[in-house]
Amino acid sequence: LLRDELQADDVFVLTERRVHKLYGAELEQSFAAAGLRQQWVTVPEGERAKSLVTFARVLDQLADLGCARRSVIVNFGGGAVSDLGGFVAASFMRGIRYVNLATSLIAQVDAAVGGKVAVNARLAKNLYGAFHHPSHVGADPTLAAHALRARLPQRHGRGDQGGDPRRQRPSWQRCSSGSTPPPAAATPTRSPRSSSWPRGLKMDWISRDPYERDLRRPLNLGHTIGHPIETEYQYKKIRHGEAVAIGLGVATCLALRKRLIAEDQADRIFALLRRYGLLGFWEPVRAQAVFGHLQIVRRIRGNNLHFVLPTKMGAVQITDDVDRPALAQAFDDYEEVVTRLAPRPAARRTTTADRLA
Ligand SMILES: NC(=O)c1ccc[n+]([C@@H]2O[C@H](COP(=O)([O-])OP(=O)(O)OC[C@H]3O[C@@H](n4cnc5c(N)ncnc54)[C@H](O)[C@@H]3O)[C@@H](O)[C@H]2O)c1
Repeated sequence: LLRDELQADDVFVLTERRVHKLYGAELEQSFAAAGLRQQWVTVPEGERAKSLVTFARVLDQLADLGCARRSVIVNFGGGAVSDLGGFVAASFMRGIRYVNLATSLIAQVDAAVGGKVAVNARLAKNLYGAFHHPSHVGADPTLAAHALRARLPQRHGRGDQGGDPRRQRPSWQRCSSGSTPPPAAATPTRSPRSSSWPRGLKMDWISRDPYERDLRRPLNLGHTIGHPIETEYQYKKIRHGEAVAIGLGVATCLALRKRLIAEDQADRIFALLRRYGLLGFWEPVRAQAVFGHLQIVRRIRGNNLHFVLPTKMGAVQITDDVDRPALAQAFDDYEEVVTRLAPRPAARRTTTADRLA
């Protein structure tokens, strides 16, 4: 593909330590066999890769290594690598081509497609970035399955969920029903099709609104509240998927209070989160701190915050009509749901002392 469709001769592979150790040699051999000249740049794994410091270092390294306008950057890793590498590609000489070879489930179903690329700031998640679409996205599901099954601790699996559907039914149904275990227990041979349907779903939205003017907003379900939680922990301790799951749970409670969603539908969402081990708080979440971060995001965006609230499985309503007491109440409500449905040590409580009434 790189040679035939992109007419690439030089590739600059951006990867992170863990993925490099596990699969680097194999990819290197494959590029060599295709006659590509290759240079490799390695960054730390996880959210540490998504910093301005790493971003600047990678740009300088690429320049030193001879990256040029016709070169292609190959991002080989999870969502952290594709977010960083996409932004690097957007900035190098004002924009060169890049390819994502996505290795984690989140990257395969979500992060590697859509062209939103960014690094994190102290003040907010993904604050510095660009829209720059990849020329190709490659997703080998066996790699994601490996990541989920054995090579990651259980918790990576939870933060990296996207479902493990094997039946041809629409989106959420494939996650929420059926007898298949969550992907954390999946084996490479059992989940070869896991990443294609959500990716197709996302591409449908993106093709209608590639620069997120409006239509694409439903994709932010769970993120309005999830991102501030990640920022509060400075992108450590709580993983992206875990934070978005809390955001989805709290958004569902908001929708319940607003009578936008029926109880049985909300219960299905909570059951789905529970089924994938995503119901709960992994660290105490200080509601006041989340509100503080939301205010910063609101100020930076210069407009209202859009809350994406589920109205039933597969449907959302977007509103900016959520005030502080309503959010605090939703955190309380979600904590009650967690206590009722998942009374286990990993599912910690919010810090009630910090609650805003
Ligand atoms: N741009 C977007 O549209 C978009 C969408 C969703 C998420 N994201 C971003 O993606 C990131 C989360 O993605 P992620 O969960 O892939 O994070 P990640 O890249 O940090 O990967 C999670 C962990 O999995 C490991 N890993 C990845 N592939 C592996 C494999 N095949 N085998 C073994 N280990 C493997 C990594 O080393 C890392 O420790 C967040 O920064 C989030 O903001 C971006």
